[in-house]
Amino acid sequence: MPERIYLSPPHMSGEELTLIQQAFADNWIAPAGPHLAAFEQKFCEYIDTKYAVALSSGTAAIHLALLTMGIQPRDEVFVSTLTFAGSVNPIIYMGAKPVFIDSEPLSWNMDPSILETALKVRAQKGSLPKAVIPVHLYGQSADMDMIMAICDHYGVPVIEDAAEAIGTLYHDRRPGTMGKLGAFSFNGNKIITTSGGGMLVSDDKSLIDHARKLSSQSREPVPHYEHVEIGYNYRMSNVLAAIGLGQLSAIEKRVQRKLEIYEYYRTHLSKVPGLTFVDEMPYGRHTRWLTVILVDAKQFGADREQIRVKLEEHNIESRPLWKPMHLQPVFKDYESIGGQVAESLFHQGLCLPSGTALTDEQLCRVVSIICEMSHH
Ligand SMILES: Cc1ncc(COP(=O)(O)O)c(C=O)c1O
Repeated sequence: MPERIYLSPPHMSGEELTLIQQAFADNWIAPAGPHLAAFEQKFCEYIDTKYAVALSSGTAAIHLALLTMGIQPRDEVFVSTLTFAGSVNPIIYMGAKPVFIDSEPLSWNMDPSILETALKVRAQKGSLPKAVIPVHLYGQSADMDMIMAICDHYGVPVIEDAAEAIGTLYHDRRPGTMGKLGAFSFNGNKIITTSGGGMLVSDDKSLIDHARKLSSQSREPVPHYEHVEIGYNYRMSNVLAAIGLGQLSAIEKRVQRKLEIYEYYRTHLSKVPGLTFVDEMPYGRHTRWLTVILVDAKQFGADREQIRVKLEEHNIESRPLWKPMHLQPVFKDYESIGGQVAESLFHQGLCLPSGTALTDEQLCRVVSIICEMSHH
């Protein structure tokens, strides 16, 4: 069996170990420490935002975003249906109700016109949602000018799920910095990783100060342990922040390699009948965190699942696009507005190996297996 090719494994820059050793040498293992503060500051500089708090996961970042926005049980929160469950679970932790919004077919992100109609109907009934969570999928930004204009019109705050969009651009701005709050993930498969971690950002100091307090069991600033609100244990450790600093130093190199990988796939696969790629929208840089192909089974001669199984036989990991949240058994009781676009993307979409350490030879292996399956 040839060596396994993973979907998007961690890729260390080489600086991480030095930074971890520094943390050990200074005994900054816990609780916080200089690497944590530096990681937050450097991350703020990179995405151009004012305040950030580093956390144990992207899911924790979304949870704290909802907590600082004061979401109450039974409140509604609009969220993209085409996403990972990590975008939605925190809404349930709050006792609030997700309402799933379909994708628009070009960018695959939240459809602004569906959002607008849905908010208009809610406004007429006098029951607007308490927040909207657009997700920036696979490294492509949602259309934030449209989404912000609509949400501002109705006075509904936006929490951006930018877990997959580190390095992405929307004009000259970064996803995660346009809404009230932005959430990022440093999970192992992300473009940069701390093995597991997340970041919550905002230009509003009071929101990040509150999130920071909530993330460390809501201790009051007095010598003894005093609590006036429920807290969480969500803070990132200084050791993991050391990894994050090493990773962040390589982010632009990683984006460039993701783009080369996408170019390789596009060059070799876009001429194959039945295979297409999502376009980069004119409003900004798609990082191609994961390269995704859409498979028209009739034209290609096999469906996306047959391609996945064939790649797996060759020890190559690929994965269907996110299964929409409105199709998940656990969320079946919640409202969904539209959903057909996301469903059809799920049925056709396959994420190809996109790790930045992939060699051209490995990419060639993936491409030749797919080409051999084409019935043309
Ligand atoms: C869109 C999206 N939202 C949220 C998350 C949750 O992040 P984490 O795994 O760090 O909790 C992820 C990734 O894992 C994601 O892809």
